[in-house]
Amino acid sequence: PDFYAVIGNPIHHSKSPIIHKLFAQETQQDMQYEAILASLDGFEAAVKAFQQRGGKGMNVTLPFKLEAYALSTRLTDRANAAQAVNTLKFNGNNDILGDNTDGTALVHDIEVNQHVAIAGKSILLMGAGGAARGAILPLLKLKPRILAIANRTKEKAQVLQRQFSAHGNVLSGHYQDFSGESFDIIINATSASLHDELPSLPGGIFSKESLAYDMMYGEELTPFLRFAQQQGASKLVDGIGMLVEQAAESFFLWRGIRPETKKVIEILKNNGH
Ligand code: ATR
Repeated sequence: PDFYAVIGNPIHHSKSPIIHKLFAQETQQDMQYEAILASLDGFEAAVKAFQQRGGKGMNVTLPFKLEAYALSTRLTDRANAAQAVNTLKFNGNNDILGDNTDGTALVHDIEVNQHVAIAGKSILLMGAGGAARGAILPLLKLKPRILAIANRTKEKAQVLQRQFSAHGNVLSGHYQDFSGESFDIIINATSASLHDELPSLPGGIFSKESLAYDMMYGEELTPFLRFAQQQGASKLVDGIGMLVEQAAESFFLWRGIRPETKKVIEILKNNGH
């Protein structure tokens, strides 16, 4: 079999091994996929060791996406735009292709799985870190009417606005700067839920038809999705679909086949997160 792995710290709760096992069964690929815990200063050594054992590719998760970007000898356009890498493909020992499948996964989940078209819509993107950055270009490619980037630290949102303005109508500000406006799609790309917190969103940004999308997920509704529900948003979506879609994109990069994701998403949802 060909060997693949997900690498991160922590890694024990990763769902990537089960997702890729289901994909491999479905597409009849002879491959094995494991989880590797790297020490915080041991990312590169762990990648090299895996390559030496004959590994063909890796998924990279927190906190190593920037290191993976730096380690790549070639980058896809979307990894270049995201300045972060979540997928590595090894072609011999000296060629490491770095890709970022997160943003594509997000738009795929919104449009194909949730049946919400992005063209012509108003979008509020919450956050200006790595997760938000990776989403911007894939979102703009689908021609939303506005993409507003809101962040606790306004300057970081402004930097992203300047960087991506050539690709569409991009705004930036603090959360409160968008008070009084409502959006069709509100995406939480902050890490606030990890601390069980919520950015200080103004009321009124959700309408009844709004899609509230959290890149995070958990057994319970996230604080962001609970707030959206209280504010009357009708569509509440967590990050499970995005997780499975990014895995499918990585699988495609490695194997040349894109697996069916619907059943896998259902299985993960039914097993609890
Ligand atoms: P990631 O790779 O997950 O995007 P990151 O690059 O560290 O991680 O970015 C974290 C994002 O979550 C940032 O937008 C951060 O806001 P700041 O730029 O102001 O730090 C946001 N964030 C994290 N905790 C938050 C909180 N409690 N309230 C609001 N925003 C928060």
